[in-house]
Amino acid sequence: MSECNLRIALTKGRLEKDTVNLFESLGFDVNALKEKGRKLILPVYGQNIDVVLAKAADVITYVEHGVCDLGVVGKDTIMEYGGKYFEIADLGFGKCKFALAGRKGYDFYKGYGVKTVASKYTNVARAFFESKGMDVDIVKIEGSVELAPLLGLADGIVDIVETGTTLKENGLEVYEDVADVSARLIVNTVSMKLKKEKIDSLVSMIESKIRR
Ligand code: PRP
Repeated sequence: MSECNLRIALTKGRLEKDTVNLFESLGFDVNALKEKGRKLILPVYGQNIDVVLAKAADVITYVEHGVCDLGVVGKDTIMEYGGKYFEIADLGFGKCKFALAGRKGYDFYKGYGVKTVASKYTNVARAFFESKGMDVDIVKIEGSVELAPLLGLADGIVDIVETGTTLKENGLEVYEDVADVSARLIVNTVSMKLKKEKIDSLVSMIESKIRR
């Protein structure tokens, strides 16, 4: 990779297609990305851009360490992992929300006993209840957090709700919204200075597209 190349870390999966569509709408050649096979680093021909496909939390790690200049990652991951980088644009796709949810009809806030809350996003859950001054026990669950209240492990969950189908099909409901989530563009703090011109031009192209 030459010095003036931009390396963009892109979250694999849900945000991947929307980001590739965004690049395509900018007139970029996204053929390599569309026919990636099992390749993890793909060129955007003619743009001096390389795209790195990574898991959400790793996008943050690569951008924070400066091995990728930019990253596309959900606000959910940003809220959970924090880190030192610039969050410069809301890309407007990947919209969903963090919510406190649990068994339908259960009154989560009833009584004085310490409640148990399951989440894959324990920092987000902790911050949410701290902001309420409420003491809760938080249990980390790696996936399908909806199981925890169903199995009686937790009184509630703090999790991503997109369509609401998973909650509905499992007899659960949202008790309270926690935060809105969407895809964000993040930039390494040093790249922002050293590659300012190239980053500014890419960001203004993206912003003119997403504002429309
Ligand atoms: C997320 C989230 C919910 C589901 C919500 O899980 O944890 O389970 O999506 O989507 P819905 O409101 O449209 O039903 P994901 O599929 O990312 O997998 P995970 O359980 O392994 O985190």
